[in-house]
Amino acid sequence: MRKRKGTRRLIGIVLLSVLLVACGVGAPDIPHMVEGRQDCLSCHAQGEQGARKIPADHTGLPNDRCEACHQAP
Ligand code: HEC
Ligand code: HEC
Repeated sequence: MRKRKGTRRLIGIVLLSVLLVACGVGAPDIPHMVEGRQDCLSCHAQGEQGARKIPADHTGLPNDRCEACHQAP
């Protein structure tokens, strides 16, 4: 009985995390202005000019999708 409860809780946690990630919760805010910087990938694809490189799970995401998850100032 105890074991089953634990399993259910684990499944709940896993499902919740998947949902949160899908909604972009946990995506860091953009610390800079985006005017004149619409080509996000020019800096972030390879980590140019001190920018952080996008994580591996971002492969294939186009520039116009970034702000769906990352909040601009
Ligand atoms: C000219 C290069 C450049 C462009 C273009 C650019 N960025 Fe950045 N970005 C940076 C740099 C440099 C930093 C880190 C330092 C800072 O500016 O505070 C950064 C930081 C970030 C961070 C924070 C990362 C972290 O680890 O906290 C996010 C998120 C981000 N940028 C998203 C974007 C998005 C989305 C776009 C397109 C709308 C974009 N950037 C366009 C250079 C760029
Ligand atoms: C579906 C939501 C989503 C979209 C769309 C998205 N991101 Fe992210 N991004 C995240 C999350 C969540 C994290 C933090 C967790 C991680 O590192 O995977 C993150 C992390 C980052 C980081 C920080 C990496 C680090 O080392 O700290 C950068 C830079 C970034 N994203 C840039 C971009 C750019 C550029 C685009 C558009 C091409 C983009 N993101 C599109 C969700 C998203």
